[in-house]
Amino acid sequence: MRLLRLAIRGFRNLADGVLEVPSRGFALVGRNGQGKTNLLEAAYYPVLLRSFRGAADSELVAFGGPGFHVEATFGGEAAGSLAATFVAAGRRKRVTIDDVEERRLTAAIGRWLAVVFLPGDVALAGGPALERRRYLDRMLSLAEPAYLRALLRYRGALARRNAALRQQQGDVARACEPILASEGALLVERRVAWIVAAGGTFADELAGLDEPGHPTLGYKGRAELAQPEAWSEAFAGSFATDRARGSTTIGPHRDDVTLAIDGQPLRVFGSTGQLRSAAIALKLLELATLRERRGIEPALLLDDVFAELDTERQRRLAARLMSEGPRQLFVTAPRIDELPAQLELPRWAMDGGRATPGRESA
Ligand SMILES: Nc1ncnc2c1ncn2[C@@H]1O[C@H](COP(=O)(O)OP(=O)(O)OP(=O)(O)O)[C@@H](O)[C@H]1O
Ligand SMILES: [Mg+2]
Repeated sequence: MRLLRLAIRGFRNLADGVLEVPSRGFALVGRNGQGKTNLLEAAYYPVLLRSFRGAADSELVAFGGPGFHVEATFGGEAAGSLAATFVAAGRRKRVTIDDVEERRLTAAIGRWLAVVFLPGDVALAGGPALERRRYLDRMLSLAEPAYLRALLRYRGALARRNAALRQQQGDVARACEPILASEGALLVERRVAWIVAAGGTFADELAGLDEPGHPTLGYKGRAELAQPEAWSEAFAGSFATDRARGSTTIGPHRDDVTLAIDGQPLRVFGSTGQLRSAAIALKLLELATLRERRGIEPALLLDDVFAELDTERQRRLAARLMSEGPRQLFVTAPRIDELPAQLELPRWAMDGGRATPGRESA
């Protein structure tokens, strides 16, 4: 799947206009604060129909502007177009697929597939459990609509149960439990199955980045909750605690993924470079998962990914990114000398919100 064209209007500091995107992608170089991350954010917007930084739509509107518009046109396996228009007055968002309005946002999510690495994603390996749950939920939702449906129903029921617990309404809280059990079991089952299947690739990716040792992935949580029948006993055991705390203390919203090298948890013992390599390996795993489950090659968006890596790791990562067939790759860096020579991509420049192809890629 390839992004052919990206039309942008009123989005952060980006210049309005249409970018004709090279089939291999590009390496975007520009000084700090020029709009490199903003351009990746616009390109990724049609994937989840929201910001990859978790910013509100109103923050994406160019300062003082009335709203924004992003339209992506694709070629390849899933040719078509996806456009989103946000109007700040009334906070209205309109989405069209192939120029036809789509009222259900969830139907449009994941039509255009991309995986993004942001500087803050090092927290995937070194940060709190929330980061890894978000990672799992986003990836598995894009991999399978049933996961997204279950997740939305689970979150709704969880909010209702927690509200009821806080208001001391035990019966109302109990009435939410069957939905939590059926939807939560699907979430736990899919997550555990993914971790079991993904461990080998995670180890291979880290070895490919020159990380010594034996890396492993594990699921931290009550794996028995993959069975809907296991939930009633679990709720019986946790009810008193849940009521005292006013929140649900069991279930996939509390779980985590453990990352370790030679049995030592990376979160505790990983060096800065190791945490970065592990986070990159998780992103490459996300890419492999989406490719396998959706039969579509996602684009890869890497924001300042080469920073902090030593020369050998930079070289290996560039070689890894260039391997494996026809993938579209978007890479940013503040300085051209931060891009390893192995990275054979058209060079583009970003200046004051305007992205322009370099001479050698014309
Ligand atoms: N809603 C907005 N409207 C206008 N400008 C904005 C908006 N949001 C952010 N900006 C501007 O965009 C600029 C930052 O752009 P961006 O984060 O893409 O920079 P960058 O090129 O990635 O820089 P760095 O190399 O430091 O990461 C800032 O100068 C900021 O003021
Ligand atoms: Mg940036």
